[in-house]
Amino acid sequence: MQILTEPRAMQQLCQSLRCQGADLGFVPTMGALHAGHLALCHRAREENPQFVASIFVNPTQFGASEDLSRYPRSLETDLELLREAGCDAVFTPDARAMYGDTDLLHGTWVDVAPFNEMWEGVTRPGHLRGVATVVAKLFNLISPSRAYFGEKDFQQLHVVQALTRDLNFPIEIVGVETVREPDGLALSSRNAYLNEQQRRAASAIYRAMRAGVEAARGGETDVAALGRTMNAVLEAEPLIQPQYVAVVDAENLTALQQLDGRAARILISAHLGKTRLIDNMAL
Ligand code: PAF
Repeated sequence: MQILTEPRAMQQLCQSLRCQGADLGFVPTMGALHAGHLALCHRAREENPQFVASIFVNPTQFGASEDLSRYPRSLETDLELLREAGCDAVFTPDARAMYGDTDLLHGTWVDVAPFNEMWEGVTRPGHLRGVATVVAKLFNLISPSRAYFGEKDFQQLHVVQALTRDLNFPIEIVGVETVREPDGLALSSRNAYLNEQQRRAASAIYRAMRAGVEAARGGETDVAALGRTMNAVLEAEPLIQPQYVAVVDAENLTALQQLDGRAARILISAHLGKTRLIDNMAL
């Protein structure tokens, strides 16, 4: 497995990997890899003769008050896991290599309307713009045939699908199902911040979504009633402070008032102490 830190070297390597016309899979990550990332790698391995990954804790997707400096980093373990997953090359640039030495060197941003004005776009201003910009840069450097993203970041997946379509990247975006702990908590690098009690309480997010799904299966179509059912589960856990609990159209993420046969998705964001978790589930 090759490890490259310079954008130009990564671009040349990927060009040569694709020059025989072979498909190339790509798994972008911010490191601190867990079984959720490995599920993306296994899918990339199955579907492409070669696959590459990136490990880059992208500063532009963190707000001023967010956890950039304490974001978990475990480069050596990550590289070992990627090697075992059959990854052909890993791109591990630093912020200077991606954005230059000063803000003046980087003036081009990718904003995907209207996702910036909803859910994560509102609660984390600038976050989706940072994600969209770095993903577009990585797509230009790597030119994969397929790129793999977890469904756990459901809005991010929509943003990536939209920018791929809007900017005409000839890339297939593959969404991969969320991997969960036995008690239902979605795997996330941020779970490492939770103390023991918070970790136990965090499974209420999954239980709340299951309660919503069960109520809908039982015939409830009023979204306000579904919201009350889910909030009741969250409120039973004093360590959880919900930020939003929404039922949205799964295609465009607009809030629904009523379930009417369209594909719908539950979106939840909640704080446990300083840690913010998000999750989602099909209704
Ligand atoms: O989901 C992530 O890990 C990041 O948002 C991504 C897609 C690698 C962009 O930095």
